[in-house]
Amino acid sequence: MNLVLVGPPGAGKGTQAEKLITEFGLTHVATGDMFRAAVSNGTPMGLEAKKYMDAGKLVPDDVVVGMVEERLAQDDVRDGFMLDGFPRNTHQAEALDAFLEKSGRSIDLVLNIAVDPELLVKRLTGRRVCRECGGNYHVLFSPSEAGDKCAGCGGELYLRDDDNEHTVRNRLDVYRNQTEPVIGYYRPLGKLADINGALKPDEVFEQIFKAIGATEESESA
Ligand code: AP5
Repeated sequence: MNLVLVGPPGAGKGTQAEKLITEFGLTHVATGDMFRAAVSNGTPMGLEAKKYMDAGKLVPDDVVVGMVEERLAQDDVRDGFMLDGFPRNTHQAEALDAFLEKSGRSIDLVLNIAVDPELLVKRLTGRRVCRECGGNYHVLFSPSEAGDKCAGCGGELYLRDDDNEHTVRNRLDVYRNQTEPVIGYYRPLGKLADINGALKPDEVFEQIFKAIGATEESESA
């Protein structure tokens, strides 16, 4: 199955992606993670992307689209993938359809994870990420049992550069103005499932599980 996770910053895309990997073994393709890896490796693309990320703006389409097209041409995604953070505007959605079509593939399901903006600000400013394994915590909602270290690997937990309140609010504006239209792009195609992301992570995943089951049933009918 080829899935897309759409939702505002902090909606829980990364959190649900971890559950989808465990349950369905889908390969996770997260553009934000790809950019952060490029930043920490100090590549020219990473240095360029960091300017946009720190301001809460979208990295230009010509950079993102080429990067995702290259990633989705690799062998490990032939049998399915889960896109997280892409497409983020309708131009990216059109480009995605066009390059998947070239290899006889298409998107099966788009999960639209919705959460109230004020809750998103709390989630993001309280998020802590492990520098070693990428483990995801929240100082109030899901603290690490190992304090300021990762409970999984003991790595250092840090606050992402773009998770300060000012940048978070810019990211939410960018989402409203540029990414929400992506929902309108997919809805008429009958590929969209609306997910209430304000519930507990397991309850959010239950809705996702049902939406995937319904899509599999309709595709096999
Ligand atoms: P990216 O890394 O994609 O960030 P984002 O979309 O802003 O999403 P986040 O990773 O912040 O949130 P999430 O939805 O994964 O939430 P999480 O599960 O961590 O992008 C970063 C930047 O890269 C962009 O701003 C842009 O500059 C650039 N970029 C990336 N893709 C691009 C593209 N296609 N085009 C152009 N530029 C691009 O959860 C958040 C917190 O809440 C965690 O602490 C978690 O523990 C907690 N939490 C999660 N779910 C729940 C729940 N149900 N209940 C309680 N707490 C919860």
